[in-house]
Amino acid sequence: MSAISPPAERIWWKAPIDKLEFTWIAIALVWSLTMFTMMVYWHIAGGQNLSNETYKTTKEMFAAKAQAVVDKYTVRTETDQQIPVVKPPAGSDIYLIGRLWAWWPIYELEKGKAYKLHLSAMDYMHGFSLQPQNINIQVHPNYEHVVKITPNQLGTYSIVCNEYCGIGHHTMVGRIYVK
Ligand code: CUA
Repeated sequence: MSAISPPAERIWWKAPIDKLEFTWIAIALVWSLTMFTMMVYWHIAGGQNLSNETYKTTKEMFAAKAQAVVDKYTVRTETDQQIPVVKPPAGSDIYLIGRLWAWWPIYELEKGKAYKLHLSAMDYMHGFSLQPQNINIQVHPNYEHVVKITPNQLGTYSIVCNEYCGIGHHTMVGRIYVK
């Protein structure tokens, strides 16, 4: 029998189910229910809980909010592109812009303090990938993604873009300092 010739037994669906097939269906059912439960469980217990809120915005509105934080709390600039290093007060809203081809600005955060990270893009879709934590969030123009973060480790975190965004995609890196 093949997919293009009719089955030898025309009423094949009335035959009793094979034990092996039944076992696989049972395994698949149990596993899918386990994964479903994990979605709810991980929302509460996950250490890298990524529940986020998303709002509609515009590039201009988001850029203005990011600029306001940068103007207020910049402590120095870094790299050839003179990217501002911003040290906002603990508990504040911080805005990160993804665009061709940089993450802007660089933040310097305090360990153990909570921040509200807002993400948006200025041109195309980018991917916020925080390393070595491996936290991944898609970043879209005209949408604002808000994630609550509490850095729990000192050090320098890298942000790489993980959505292909053109010729300079591989150079689209940023960083976050936790002190
Ligand atoms: Cu931005 Cu790839």
